Amino acid sequence: MINEIEQVALRAARAAGRIHLKRLSRINISRKSNSIDLVTEADRESEAAIIEVIHRAFPTHAILAEESGASAHQSDHRWIIDPLDGTTNFAHGYPQFCVSIAYERRGRVQFGVVFDALKKECFIAQRGQGARLNGKPIRVSTTPNLCAALLGSGFAYDRRERRRFYLCFWEEIMMRAQGIRRSGSAALDLAYVAAGRIDGFWEFGLRPWDVAAGAILVDEARGCVSNMDGRELDLAGANIVATNGRLHDQLIEAIAQARPEADRRHAEMLHETKASA
Ligand code: IPD
Ligand code: CA
Ligand code: CA
Repeated sequence: MINEIEQVALRAARAAGRIHLKRLSRINISRKSNSIDLVTEADRESEAAIIEVIHRAFPTHAILAEESGASAHQSDHRWIIDPLDGTTNFAHGYPQFCVSIAYERRGRVQFGVVFDALKKECFIAQRGQGARLNGKPIRVSTTPNLCAALLGSGFAYDRRERRRFYLCFWEEIMMRAQGIRRSGSAALDLAYVAAGRIDGFWEFGLRPWDVAAGAILVDEARGCVSNMDGRELDLAGANIVATNGRLHDQLIEAIAQARPEADRRHAEMLHETKASA
């Protein structure tokens, strides 16, 4: 069964990748929840193509997809799909975006693929079988501590409303790490942790489709994935820390250190906004 899952997932990812490349030169943008949350025809078209491939092979499986939501029916088998992760990059022609597809059985992700069509990089992981990039095994980095680490992070679409909260963590971690990157694709950030290109990643406010495939990649590349408190990752829980394992506790500790001040500054901002309304 899992081989068939892999074949179908790869077929679906490649179909999405072809649409990304075709649409890249003629981008048609509209806006979702607010003025910074975009959706392009590439998002919608690639999602439809992915779902068609999956449905043809497994008509009874459930689906959770970013643009079309959750299937009405329940199943032990569920596919979690971000048809285009890095939409803002895509819309600007900035070459950092991908498709992310995960397959979950009875609530546990068993397979994940993150495919960057532009760079022709296909990251896959199967539970218990390791992680691969274009067929070659990958491993997380061996960077021993935070001060030698290159980290990734990002901001959710409520970043204007919660800017002081999010920036507090950047401030704290900037003082402790070697560098921080904001790539604009959480799925690729996680794939890069798995491949040892960055040593760790944290982000608040993510959705299951942003992290489902990337989290199994990190797990299977012998890294460590958790929520912000260091406890087991809950895909619905929105917050993720993923590292090479060696510096996990240090990153969790830095986040915990910044938290009270982040909460205080956010509350202060809400107060100011109310007062000026
Ligand atoms: C976004 C990207 C970005 C992250 C945002 C996500 P989208 O996904 O992964 O890196 O910072 O939180 O929502 O909208 O491009 O699919
Ligand atoms: Ca996404
Ligand atoms: Ca998306």
